[in-house]
Amino acid sequence: MEDYTLPFWIYLCVLTVFIGGAMKKILASHLSTAPTLVAWLGATVLVERLWAFCLPAVLLLVLLGLACCIYLAARTRPPPAALPAHGKAVFITGCDSGFGNAAAKRLDALGFEVFATVLDLSGDGARELQRICSPRLTLLQVDITQPQQVQQALLDTKAKLGLRGLWGLVNNAGICVNIGDAELSLMSNFRGCMEVNFFGTVNVTKTFLPLLRQAKGRLITISSPAGDQPFPCLAAYGASKAALNLFINTLRHELELWGVRVSTILPGSYKTGQSSNHAYWEQQHKQLLQNLSPALLEDYGEDYVNETKELFQSHAKQANPDFSPVIDTIVQALLAPQPQVRYFAGPGLGLVYFIHNYCPFSISNHFLKKLFVKKKLMPRALRKQSGFNLNLNLHNNNNEEKLK
Ligand SMILES: *[C@@H]1O[C@H](CO)[C@@H](O)[C@H](O)[C@H]1NC(C)=O
Ligand SMILES: *[C@@H]1O[C@H](CO)[C@@H](O)[C@H](O)[C@H]1NC(C)=O
Repeated sequence: MEDYTLPFWIYLCVLTVFIGGAMKKILASHLSTAPTLVAWLGATVLVERLWAFCLPAVLLLVLLGLACCIYLAARTRPPPAALPAHGKAVFITGCDSGFGNAAAKRLDALGFEVFATVLDLSGDGARELQRICSPRLTLLQVDITQPQQVQQALLDTKAKLGLRGLWGLVNNAGICVNIGDAELSLMSNFRGCMEVNFFGTVNVTKTFLPLLRQAKGRLITISSPAGDQPFPCLAAYGASKAALNLFINTLRHELELWGVRVSTILPGSYKTGQSSNHAYWEQQHKQLLQNLSPALLEDYGEDYVNETKELFQSHAKQANPDFSPVIDTIVQALLAPQPQVRYFAGPGLGLVYFIHNYCPFSISNHFLKKLFVKKKLMPRALRKQSGFNLNLNLHNNNNEEKLK
C-alpha cells in the first residue's frame, strides 16, 4: 500500500473515468445486461497494467509536462485575428425574438449585411429590428415550414446579393410545442417539433447551400443539449433536435470538400421565444388535457400533468435573460479563421456533457432529472398501488397488535 502515493490514485481515478466512459458506450451498444462494474474495473486494471508495463513513470511525466507546455503555449498565444465582417452577407431564421433577434442586431452592428427572417413582419421583434438596425438589414417574412416562402426568401436574397455568394446561414428558428412525459405527449407535439426543427431547417439549408458553397461560407445551427441527452419531458423536442444534429453532422464532412465550415451551437437554458410565455403554455396545457385519452389521464392523474407544467414554468422563469454567450459564439463561428465544430454556450454545459459521456447511466439519468423538471408526484396509478400496500401493512400491523 505504501507504494501507492497520491499521484497514483489521482492517475487511477482519471483513467477509471475515461475507461468508464468507453465501457459505457460499449455496454450501451452491445451487452446491455453484462455486469457493468466488473467489466469497468477489469478494463481499468488491465489498461493500467499495460500502461505501466509499456510506459515507465518518468516517460509519462515527460509526456504530461509536454502536454502542459503545449496547452500553455496555445493559451498565451493571441487568438488568430477574426475575419472582417464588412461585405459579408448572413441569413438568419427566426428573428422575431430570442437568439435570432439579438443576433440580427449584433451582426448588423458589426457590419454584416443581414437577411433576417421573421414570422410576423408587423410584430414587435420585426419593428424593433427595423428601427434599430442599419439599412443593410433586410427583413423577410418566412415560415420555414412553408417551402414556397423559403423559395421566395431565396429569390429576394439573390436579388440583393447579385452575383455574390452568402457567407453565413444561421439556422436559428425552432420551437418546443409542449413538454411532458413522452407517453402523454400528443402526436401533434412530435410532428410540430419535427416540422419546424427538422424538416423546416433541412429545407432552408438545402435551399441556401448553393449560395454558401459559392462563398465557401459558414453553416451555423442552433441546436440543443436535449438533442444529445435524454432530458425528462423533452422527448418530442429532443428527438427533433437529435435528427437535426445528425443531418448537420453529416453535412459537415460532406461540405468539407466545398470549403463550407459547419458549426453547431448548444445553448444552456435561456429565456427565449415561448419559454417564458405563460399564456402559451397554459393554452398548450389545456389542449393536452382535452386531447388525452381518459385511460391515460386516469393512470397518470390530472395533478401529475399539472405539476409537470408548473415545474417547467418555474424552470423557465429562472432561465438566463442575457443571450450574449450565445450571440458571442455565433459571431465566433462566423468570423474565426478556424471555427469550432461545436460551441457550448452557457455555464456548466461542459460538465453536463462530461457526466453524460463518462458516468454510468444510473448517475447520468439521475443528474438529468435533478437538472431539469424535478417531479415530486408519482403517476396516480402508481400512487394508488403504494397507498394500497401501505393500508394493507397498517391492517396487518393492527392485527398483529391485536394478536399480541
Ligand atoms: C423544400 O421543400 C419543398 C416541398 O417539400 C420542395 O419542393 C423543395 O424542393 C425543397 N427545397 C429543396 C432545396 O430541396
Ligand atoms: C389542473 O389544471 C387545470 C387547468 O389549469 C385546472 O382546471 C385543474 O383544476 C387542475 N387540476 C388539478 C387536479 O390540480
